[in-house]
Amino acid sequence: MDAISSRGPRAGRRVLVYGATGHTGRFVVQELVRRGLEPVLSGRDSDRLAELGRRHPGLEVRPAEVAEAEALAKAVVDVAAVVNCAGPFLDTAGPVAAAAVGAGAHYLDVTAEQPSVQATYRAHGEGSVPEGVVVLPAMAFYGGLADLLASALADRSGGAVESVTTAVGLDRWWPTEGTRATGRRNTARRLVVADGRLVPAPEAAPSRTWDFPAPLGRHAVVALPFTEVIAMHRHLDAGRIDSYLSEAPLSELRDPATGGPEASDESGRSAQRFAVDVRVRAEGVEHRAVATGRDIYAVTAPLVAEAVTRVLDGRVRAEGAVAPGQVFDAADFLAALSPWPLDVELSEG
Ligand SMILES: NC(=O)c1ccc[n+]([C@@H]2O[C@H](COP(=O)([O-])OP(=O)(O)OC[C@H]3O[C@@H](n4cnc5c(N)ncnc54)[C@H](OP(=O)(O)O)[C@@H]3O)[C@@H](O)[C@H]2O)c1
Repeated sequence: MDAISSRGPRAGRRVLVYGATGHTGRFVVQELVRRGLEPVLSGRDSDRLAELGRRHPGLEVRPAEVAEAEALAKAVVDVAAVVNCAGPFLDTAGPVAAAAVGAGAHYLDVTAEQPSVQATYRAHGEGSVPEGVVVLPAMAFYGGLADLLASALADRSGGAVESVTTAVGLDRWWPTEGTRATGRRNTARRLVVADGRLVPAPEAAPSRTWDFPAPLGRHAVVALPFTEVIAMHRHLDAGRIDSYLSEAPLSELRDPATGGPEASDESGRSAQRFAVDVRVRAEGVEHRAVATGRDIYAVTAPLVAEAVTRVLDGRVRAEGAVAPGQVFDAADFLAALSPWPLDVELSEG
């Protein structure tokens, strides 16, 4: 497919980070600065933003609440892209994406909420965004990473995709307040793909065991689809799409006594280890891709920052409301992040 360059009316390197004060937002700001982009710090809490601004002298601070369309419109006025890190996204994605697109800026977010991605696809579907503007929800650990892995395998197999199965292995889960708030807010029945259609996941979530690469090894996993199912269904014509997650860290997440993530090195990453294992069956052959690394929040920053970089450079295959594996050359994208901060391996059989 030929690349369509991103001819959004907004050029430049300025990227508004909405929710910049959050745990993930801070990693994203750091990563954008590291890449020579110019983050603009935004969100609803002007005191927290001012404090963050003092740590990044030279970066502009623009507070705006999601309920105030005018303030949001002012905040995005001269930026090339907006990265929304403020969740629950069921509360923020609608207004923040509308402000970005209204100003001709690209929109990206890191949502793990299925109904938020569906709403963003619906609101910014074909013909409803300015020419060249990219609207890319779920460009994160949950969502985008599995979609990119599946897309790299689908591209390589060259055949019709019959099924995609994702398993996420975590040794621990130290959830942020944003993760907990999102879990309380997003009570929608989760969706999987069966017979090529999005359908409600079974009430009694199926469980099984899964062999992740060392050091995780064998885990009990339970069916728990996130935004990767919605993203994959946007562009992969698969009959079945299912996702599983390790059971043990889910219990930690559900325990109110579990503390939040703590830095275990100078980059701020926690010691949490993950593996995202994706199996794609195409033309009767199973292909496998595995990405391993540390800290699901921290790794979201290079994932979304790599996406911003490519969108601003025009290294995109599509425009409008898209999934990660649809808009990028997935194998090339993953190769750019491997072996650090991800270790990615693709294999067959
Ligand atoms: N898909 C993934 O893999 C992935 C990865 C990382 C994060 N996430 C998602 O990203 C979100 C943030 O996570 P986090 O770990 O960064 O949490 P966090 O540290 O608690 O930060 C949450 C941020 O969102 C802001 N916020 C929340 N509700 C808002 C609203 N209604 N209006 C404006 N700002 C609002 C908060 O602002 P205040 O400071 O004013 O409260 C804060 O800046 C969560 O939904 C989480 O699920 C997803």
